[in-house]
Amino acid sequence: MPSRQSPIGVFDSGVGGLSVLRAIRERLPDEDMIYVADQAHVPYGPRPREEVLQFAEEIVRYLLGRGVKLIVVACNTASAVALHGLRETFPEIPFVGMEPAVKPAAERTQSGVVGVLATPATFQGELYASTVERFAQGVTVLQDTCPGLVEQIEKGALDTSETRQILEDALLPMLAQGMDRVVMGCTHYPFVIPVIKEIVGDGVEVVDPSPAIARQVERLLERHGLRNTGGGEGEAWFATTGEVEQLAGVLPVFSIQCSVNSIQSMSLS
Ligand code: DGL
Repeated sequence: MPSRQSPIGVFDSGVGGLSVLRAIRERLPDEDMIYVADQAHVPYGPRPREEVLQFAEEIVRYLLGRGVKLIVVACNTASAVALHGLRETFPEIPFVGMEPAVKPAAERTQSGVVGVLATPATFQGELYASTVERFAQGVTVLQDTCPGLVEQIEKGALDTSETRQILEDALLPMLAQGMDRVVMGCTHYPFVIPVIKEIVGDGVEVVDPSPAIARQVERLLERHGLRNTGGGEGEAWFATTGEVEQLAGVLPVFSIQCSVNSIQSMSLS
């Protein structure tokens, strides 16, 4: 049985969910965390639903095997495809998933035009369609899938000419249509917010949902009596289905210091 001292499980197709892990650490510094990066299968965005669902279920089983007390699906794509099914298949564990932050953007826009950057699978999901329908009535919502951006971020190429080009191709047409809010609908993208801000300028607010996700994790832990308030400094362990050395090499780019020894290799069937 999980206890207050059990770790929180967090997973993504790759390094993107580290933007969520970072926000959780800031809010709940005494919690231990286990992070799974399914780098053998990144990107999830263009994959069929069934495949993403299967990967997500296997990762959840792995995390349960490591005794986690709550699981954060730190991936908009996996949340869109699998969150509902995961809650049904694993009713014993609380889940927190990502939802494109269209609501706060639509509530605060002055120009009536908001942009959303996310993967094709996220845009095709019912969650996105219902979010837009419920919260963005009367607002123009522009979308872009930023092809190739997840791959650049996986390599740690946060501010290269390729990365900048992908972002300009997405954002400049949105700016031309009067966008004043842009939503990070993929957990990889907060890592390129500095470049995004340079392109869009001060007149556009960048909406990153990860602080709200961290608050939701806190609420849910409290509700289940599972919040660790021990006052210690939480540890983080990592597992990847890709190359351990590659992940170890790239983690410092995302401001995460960790030795190769705290990264495990894992595989999905
Ligand atoms: N970080 C992911 C997301 O939030 C997935 C990106 C991908 O693997 O395509 O959607």
